[in-house]
Amino acid sequence: MHHFHYSGKTLHCEGVSIESLVQKFGTPLYVYSQQTVTDRFRALDQALAGIDHLVCFAVKSNSNRAVLRTIADLGGGFDIVSAGELRRVIEAGGDAGKCAFAGVGKSEAEIEYALKKGVHTFNVESEPELKRIDAIAGRLKVKAHVAVRVNPNVEAHTHAKITTGTYENKFGIAFEEIEGVYKRASRLKNLNLRGLQMHIGSQITDSEPFETAVRKVAPLAARLKARHGIEFLSIGGGIGIVYDPALESGSPAWWQTGPGKKTLTPASYAARLLPELKALGLRILLEPGRYISGNSGILVTRIEYVKRTGKKNFLIVDAAMNDLIRPAFYDAYHQILPLTKKGGALLSTDVVGPICESGDYFCHDRPLPKVGSGDCLALMSAGAYGSVMGSNYNSRSLPAEVLVNGSKAALVRRRQDVADIWANEATAPWQK
Ligand code: LLP
Repeated sequence: MHHFHYSGKTLHCEGVSIESLVQKFGTPLYVYSQQTVTDRFRALDQALAGIDHLVCFAVKSNSNRAVLRTIADLGGGFDIVSAGELRRVIEAGGDAGKCAFAGVGKSEAEIEYALKKGVHTFNVESEPELKRIDAIAGRLKVKAHVAVRVNPNVEAHTHAKITTGTYENKFGIAFEEIEGVYKRASRLKNLNLRGLQMHIGSQITDSEPFETAVRKVAPLAARLKARHGIEFLSIGGGIGIVYDPALESGSPAWWQTGPGKKTLTPASYAARLLPELKALGLRILLEPGRYISGNSGILVTRIEYVKRTGKKNFLIVDAAMNDLIRPAFYDAYHQILPLTKKGGALLSTDVVGPICESGDYFCHDRPLPKVGSGDCLALMSAGAYGSVMGSNYNSRSLPAEVLVNGSKAALVRRRQDVADIWANEATAPWQK
């Protein structure tokens, strides 16, 4: 369910051809579908309709202000991990009172800023952090709303780099220690113990890890409700998406749905979790990022050169690992489609960027249609953890971003000027 499709032979985002966007805005170019963001948010929101809930979009997955505004207009909240993300949400028209502030390393300045803006809750990851928040709230003469992040020690069966809910990870406080922590925290005068939070990992394609975690944590939440009057349980984000439609039910790869299994949908996720959650009588918070933004964006890139070496066919494109690092960093799979549908034989191809690292690739040995220099390709499902993880490596400027809505398209981030990259730098005085 997304709004990137071929109309005739040409790839479209909603009612707009990608080629027309390339002509207007150039490449590399991120393109976002507002309708897909909307549909995904609503699908989750509606799946939870039977229970008091708030869907807090994980800003880290896509923080473009136009995307955040879309979520704000739908009544959504936000999962934030820095003062910068909070400022973005506010700039985009979001409500600080619907922001849950996560992260293991909140600084004093960040806590102070968030308290002044009145965030919904701090998701607290350690006892020193609880004490720090209490002290700052006391100084500001306000009450800080807090939830403690429980680490349920549950395997998420996803990539090691995005597993967060086991005792190998730096996140949260161990399940067995939680009640003691709440007891001690209840003596801190400037805290309101408002909830309990967890997040076990990302790109989880099966309901089983979520069920296991909820089954383990629900009784704990019930006890904390009875003893400390908590109001909500946040079950985090992590719902996986389909990166390769062709392999949807067959691939054992980490990024894909398990062999023979159906894709995790909001309906199946909710059906498995709601009975247990409803019985708690708590408000339920969700922190989905990828589920909402992942399939809502693509990265469009132009082929600079076709190069054949002794062993391989390379397409050298104008996007690189600095624009989309997921293949280099996680061996992640992104479907690659030509902007104009091609017939004919497929050719085993490596799509690579211009950066001077062998890790700068988008696929290896992938059967792709025959395309040539000047043609453009779409790297699909790049809306989550795409642009936000971009860097200026090799002094490459960050790409432009466009939001499409029906037949309209607007530039929502201008291409970075190359001089902006070094605007904050200087030579030392003795180098005159
Ligand atoms: N809540 C917390 C506390 C998180 O740490 C995260 C993601 C989310 C919610 C949202 O998770 P999602 O629904 O998007 O799975 N860069 C990696 C993903 C890192 C995820 C970090 N935490 C990637 O490109 O796959």
